[in-house]
Amino acid sequence: MKTQIIPSDQTSAAAALIRKGGLVVFPTETVYGLGASAFNPVACARIFSAKGRPSDNPLIVHIASAEQLAEVTGEIPAAAQKLMDAFWPGPLSLVLARNPALPEIVTAGLPTVAVRWPRHPQAQQFLLDCGMGVAAPSANVSGAPSPTTFDMAKGAMLGRVEGILLGDDADEGLESTIVGFPEGQPRILRPGSVTAEQIAGVLGVPSDALLYTAPTEGRPISPGLKYAHYKPAAEVRLFRDASELRTGQTDEKVGLLTWGECPECPSSGWTVVTFSTLKDYAKGLYSSFFEFDRVGCTVIWAQLPADEGLGSALANRLLKAAGGVMPGGTGPG
Ligand code: TXA
Ligand code: MG
Repeated sequence: MKTQIIPSDQTSAAAALIRKGGLVVFPTETVYGLGASAFNPVACARIFSAKGRPSDNPLIVHIASAEQLAEVTGEIPAAAQKLMDAFWPGPLSLVLARNPALPEIVTAGLPTVAVRWPRHPQAQQFLLDCGMGVAAPSANVSGAPSPTTFDMAKGAMLGRVEGILLGDDADEGLESTIVGFPEGQPRILRPGSVTAEQIAGVLGVPSDALLYTAPTEGRPISPGLKYAHYKPAAEVRLFRDASELRTGQTDEKVGLLTWGECPECPSSGWTVVTFSTLKDYAKGLYSSFFEFDRVGCTVIWAQLPADEGLGSALANRLLKAAGGVMPGGTGPG
């Protein structure tokens, strides 16, 4: 398939492709999305094949107006309204009652729909030009890290979609925080750059109360949680302290991601990327994975931050990238 690269100010051309049932990759502040009209089940089915995504994993619907929100949802709980007022537009997705008008394929048969109003101006204009909600997972092939730059998005989706809207590097760099309301209680289903502490502050609850424990039986509330995710081609190993770093076989080409100064970290032989803040780490994580793969690294050592604030979202993605293996451990397998 021929893919049009669409100049960044031509959101209406990108929207015209969506209205004709096409797939368009577009930038957001979290990661690039792979969009189709949320009201076109045939186009939505094509999202799943373009990504190689299991069909039981539902899509997030992106909106940019109150009308578009009402078209895809039912009743909005008071707590959800508070979170919308505090964090929308922004990197937060809310799992709400689904509007029966929404095709089943979007929600993979669930009674709920995940919705997000992005902050990114180009994404907003594109959504308004589309004139309807746009279903969009991250624009990666299923299992790989999400694209946070135009080059990554193009590398993943060229030839699989009708259009790719040119855009800047994503500001946040990690997928949105997802909050659901199982049994009416707010729970964080996926941590992101809107932190548990911020959400707890708005809702007036302790942040521990937002922890979600997946049931051991029955269908998971957020089907995507069970899949392997965010994996570069290189093997990812985690460490907390430089003393845990091990040099391996001599034929290993090693990439190293650290946060803050690491004077004890190896300075020669390894490809080192040092982030000065957690925010930079989040923003640069996936593009560093991409770059390490591009230069042929076989191993990536990545520093694991503490499980609090933005560190929780980073730790979540790093653990998945490492196949669940904690520093020095063997992981759940
Ligand atoms: O930042 C983001 O959220 C990006 C950009 C493009 O907006 N999108 C994104 O989509 O990360 P995706 O498909 O890669 O991840 C969506 C996650 C999946 O884990 C899915 O299972 C979950 O959201 N999800 C979608 N609908 C849901 C629902 N009704 N209930 C619970 N979880 C849901
Ligand atoms: Mg994804």
